[in-house]
Amino acid sequence: MSKILVIDDDKSIRESLELYLAEEGYEVRTASTGTEGLNRFVRDLPDVVILDIRLPDIDGFTVLEDLREEDEKVKVIMITAHHDMETTINAMKGGAFDYIHKPINVDELDIAIKKALGSVELEKKISGLLMEHPRDFKVGDIIGTGNKMKEVFKTIGIVSQNKTTVLIQGESGTGKELIAKCIHYNTSRDEPYIAVNCSAIVETLLESELFGHEKGSFTGAIARKQGKFELARYGTVFLDEISEMSINLQAKLLRVLQEMEFERVGGKDRVRVNARIIAATNKNLKKIVKEGTFRDDLFYRLNIVSINIPPLRERPEDLEPLVEYLLNKANRDLHKQIAGVSDEMMEVFRRYSWPGNIRELENLLVRAVVVAKGQVLGREDFPDLMDEKSDARTGGEPAGDAVEPGKIPTLDEIEEMHIRRVIKETDKNKGEMCEILGISRPTFERKLEKYGITFERE
Ligand SMILES: Nc1ncnc2c1ncn2[C@@H]1O[C@H](COP(=O)(O)OP(=O)(O)OP(=O)(O)O)[C@@H](O)[C@H]1O
Ligand SMILES: [Mg+2]
Repeated sequence: MSKILVIDDDKSIRESLELYLAEEGYEVRTASTGTEGLNRFVRDLPDVVILDIRLPDIDGFTVLEDLREEDEKVKVIMITAHHDMETTINAMKGGAFDYIHKPINVDELDIAIKKALGSVELEKKISGLLMEHPRDFKVGDIIGTGNKMKEVFKTIGIVSQNKTTVLIQGESGTGKELIAKCIHYNTSRDEPYIAVNCSAIVETLLESELFGHEKGSFTGAIARKQGKFELARYGTVFLDEISEMSINLQAKLLRVLQEMEFERVGGKDRVRVNARIIAATNKNLKKIVKEGTFRDDLFYRLNIVSINIPPLRERPEDLEPLVEYLLNKANRDLHKQIAGVSDEMMEVFRRYSWPGNIRELENLLVRAVVVAKGQVLGREDFPDLMDEKSDARTGGEPAGDAVEPGKIPTLDEIEEMHIRRVIKETDKNKGEMCEILGISRPTFERKLEKYGITFERE
């Protein structure tokens, strides 16, 4: 029998819903405040929650947030006032499964509940855990034409045949998570893929997130909870931003990787790890090992196979195919039919250094597709990029105006501007540039890298 929890301070609504839903064959629990509702939720683990937005103690949005923290797959149907579209939109944005308007229409309610229960069933069928559709993660969907990306694809192919630990390194937005999913869906597509961001949660919580806990192991541990390593079963645990893990937890993770077994927090039973572990970082792990904030033995354990994704500025050959791919995706998602990017704008793209990599490119394109008036995206569709204090502008303005008027530039900014200016004035001959700048070739290369400056020799 499916369980439904009704959280509403209005006694008559509670009672009539309870009566109606019980008659429909559901097991019903009710609560009149947010706090009571949250407690009931943890205790009874209902399949669906019907939640009023206005509650006497905590507002419904916060309750929704807390419920989702307990169980991100929770199906919450919000009750909103009829006239208030904004609240409804916010409810959906906050992760509500559906909403119904007041006064409650039972047919509407019925449909919402059946939909929610249907999706619970479906999720259980798939794996017991929410996962994205594997169809989205064919290697062919990862754009990469140069040698470095071919190397990446080759490694994906190799590691997909076994379950070795993989370390993925790359600047932010280079596609680390995409590669991790790709490895997962090529290895064990019917098992769960579970991502944990090691920087997003405080240490003690992260430990119980990863390894689970026994009932009563700390205040708030109301019931036994399985950790991500257990939930992932024979699938994948993706440890994102691994560099941010505390030294203390690093030691624990190391032990788990050595023994492939662990105990839940506050427990004695040994639990086996069957999942593959993929760790990712946008920092240079070797460097932070040297600095002493990351354990070298853990680094070696994780770095059994490593994949280094090159930043976009080092893959100029991918820029055009990526623009095409991402534009298609945006067109599909937004029901638009933008034909492409103007030649002039493509040139700006080529000269830009893309510090946020593919994520930045994707965001810019999506925004441009949303606001575009014409069929082809031009400079007016990328105001952010045209404002950049980089060389991402067309025309030959003196480099000096690359800094906002009225703002006193930093030394680095002046250095960067000066280098860009020299590049322009020397017809891109590196020897000549070094001479003008009075620095050695290696120093020059280092500075180019520092500022993300790339150019092709003419
Ligand atoms: N080679 C690629 N081909 C197509 N899309 C890509 C590629 N690489 C990245 N993307 C897209 O770019 C976006 C960012 O990728 P992803 O989230 O995997 O990066 P990340 O390295 O994990 O970033 P962060 O360090 O910021 O977490 C995603 O929407 C992803 O689908
Ligand atoms: Mg990521």
